[in-house]
Amino acid sequence: MVVMGRNTQLSIEDDNGVQIAVYKVFVGIGGNIGQYERVREICNLQNIPLILDAAHLAGTQTMRVYPQYQAMAQSQVGWDADVSVFSFQAVKNLPTADSGMICFKDEEDDKLARQLSWLGIDKSTYDRYNKGTYNWKYDVPNVGYKYHGNALMGAIGLVQLKYLDEDNQYRNLLAETYSHYFNILNLETIEPIKESNLKVHSRHLYPIRIKKGLRDFVMEELSERGIYCGVHYLDNTKYPMYNYAHGSCKNAHEISSELISLPLHLHMSKDDVKRIVIEIADILPEYDKDKSITKGLLGRADNGKK
Ligand SMILES: Cc1ncc(COP(=O)(O)O)c(C=O)c1O
Repeated sequence: MVVMGRNTQLSIEDDNGVQIAVYKVFVGIGGNIGQYERVREICNLQNIPLILDAAHLAGTQTMRVYPQYQAMAQSQVGWDADVSVFSFQAVKNLPTADSGMICFKDEEDDKLARQLSWLGIDKSTYDRYNKGTYNWKYDVPNVGYKYHGNALMGAIGLVQLKYLDEDNQYRNLLAETYSHYFNILNLETIEPIKESNLKVHSRHLYPIRIKKGLRDFVMEELSERGIYCGVHYLDNTKYPMYNYAHGSCKNAHEISSELISLPLHLHMSKDDVKRIVIEIADILPEYDKDKSITKGLLGRADNGKK
């Protein structure tokens, strides 16, 4: 049985409730990695394997140090995790129709996961194909699952990979445009999310916090105006399976009632971003209902930029 403990720690218990393993799970929400490096250090010190949920992190990069060569290079976040799990589902930065990737530090874990994802069979179909003869002599050391990826998704993913950096650059442009306009308007009700120091941010999401209990109101008003936002995420303890822990995640509870993920995708333009910011300012009570003030401010900002 898997049990969720304090501080995103997962423990695995046998049938008698005896703890047999402990893991730390870190989620890189929206492409940001928060205090990942600190958590990595703590895990190293306490000898706890670290599992990185990298569903939003395709293309997020930090500096990797190669002590043996006394060199550094930009690297995909997750190179130092024990396990990194990526999502290539249709709305992610590297979209296929639906697939993902698990990367293990330990080769034995990798081997076992490949077997378990393919019904427990010890050799892949490719490994069993020998000079035109299909070799049926394989073993099934474990009962596995049918969770393997397929070649169609693989082919889509390989093509998408070519565009990942370029797409992420465009996402960054849109995100910078949001930040630029929000900085100019300096709205009291809006708190930007602190970003970590990254070489490249995947910018899967552009989340902001709406203070003063106005989140739901702002979302509803935006939706009336044809602007559809998301929330990443609702506090887990609001779901029935985790409500035993209600009240134990004070920060998540507070923040999740304030978060909005604003629209951010490759079919948007900088003008779309501007329109969204203008609508938000218009909805907030702290602004008078004269859009011309906002438009004037942002217009001057654009002129100043050019
Ligand atoms: C943070 C996070 N982790 C994991 C997943 C699951 O990814 P998948 O649907 O590819 O299994 C998602 C999907 O949206 C996600 O947002």
